Amino acid sequence: MYSVLTGLGYAVPDRVLTNVQLEQMVDTDNEWIVQRTGIRERRIADASTATSDLALAAARSALADAGVSAAEVDLIIVATVTPDYAFPATACLIQRELGAWNAAAFDLEAACTGFIYGLGIADQFIRAGTYRTILVIGAETLSRITDYTDRNTCVLFGDGAGAAVLRAGEEPGLLGLEIGADGRGGELLVLPAGGSRNPASRETVAARRHYIHMAGREVFKFAVKIMEESALRVLARAGLQPGEVDLIIPHQANARIIDSACKRLGIGRDRVYVNLDRYGNMSAASIPVALSEASARGKLKPGDYVLLVGFGGGLTWGAAVIKWNKEAKHD
Ligand code: UT7
Repeated sequence: MYSVLTGLGYAVPDRVLTNVQLEQMVDTDNEWIVQRTGIRERRIADASTATSDLALAAARSALADAGVSAAEVDLIIVATVTPDYAFPATACLIQRELGAWNAAAFDLEAACTGFIYGLGIADQFIRAGTYRTILVIGAETLSRITDYTDRNTCVLFGDGAGAAVLRAGEEPGLLGLEIGADGRGGELLVLPAGGSRNPASRETVAARRHYIHMAGREVFKFAVKIMEESALRVLARAGLQPGEVDLIIPHQANARIIDSACKRLGIGRDRVYVNLDRYGNMSAASIPVALSEASARGKLKPGDYVLLVGFGGGLTWGAAVIKWNKEAKHD
């Protein structure tokens, strides 16, 4: 029994925030951002749009792509660090809007690795025979936790959502997956206030502690190393060499991280899908949006080996190898 990706979808807000616009907001410049990150613009949700709105649009599109009705969904997992509320879970809001009354629903938090963690959990339920149809969503409105007075972080992040339908099938599918964590690096990427350690107060708001705080250089070093190691481990588990990968979909944090990791793996840029120039880093949404876009743009054909690899806050990481068996589609 394999977990097979049978449907994909994504949604991003219409509003574009360009590097040139950011030049008006903080002490930065387009050239620095492009050279140091590869990002040119990102999407920003309007005030009335929350994470569940983007997630719902992505979910509807993935279900339509899979030809699956809401009633067939057994489980909904939403990976996010920007849920609509601390509770109820964003996944429950999606269940309600879809009318997916047969589905269990929960959120998971593994920062930018959340979608791969979600795939891993879904795969376990499918291979155990517990569930047949699972919706895994990565969705974020990072603009809500981004400090637009901090040039170290505000140029990096954007909003969006991607979704995948996994179904039980006889043909491979998901060939290998690993997830991992190193909590010793937890302070490197943190939203300090608003939880039980530092509940919201006038002081936490005044100190701007409800925004992302990041030690960029340390996260960078961790990312390059772990992407290579994790990718090699899942490829070995699937009996594949890096040279056999047709397309790698890395987490979209920084073009220099992607380039360094792919160079170490010996995977050329022509086999890497990159969309961070248009969307920036959308945390848990980055990988499913990129996968969905790559599929919609006809970059994947049946029989291709696709490698997903990500890293993020926690610190966390994850990688997955998929044998693609969906027909190529074009926009
Ligand atoms: O999703 C997972 C989480 N995050 C990541 O993966 C991020 C990983 N880290 C990175 O992508 C990079 O470390 C950054 C893009 C965040 C920063 O790039 P860097 O090349 O590591 O720059 P840096 O932090 O070493 O800073 C170099 C200089 C500093 O100036 P001084 O101290 O040398 O005078 C910064 O103040 O660049 C300055 N700088 C900026 N300058 C213009 C930092 N941000 C900006 C900016 N515009 N936006």
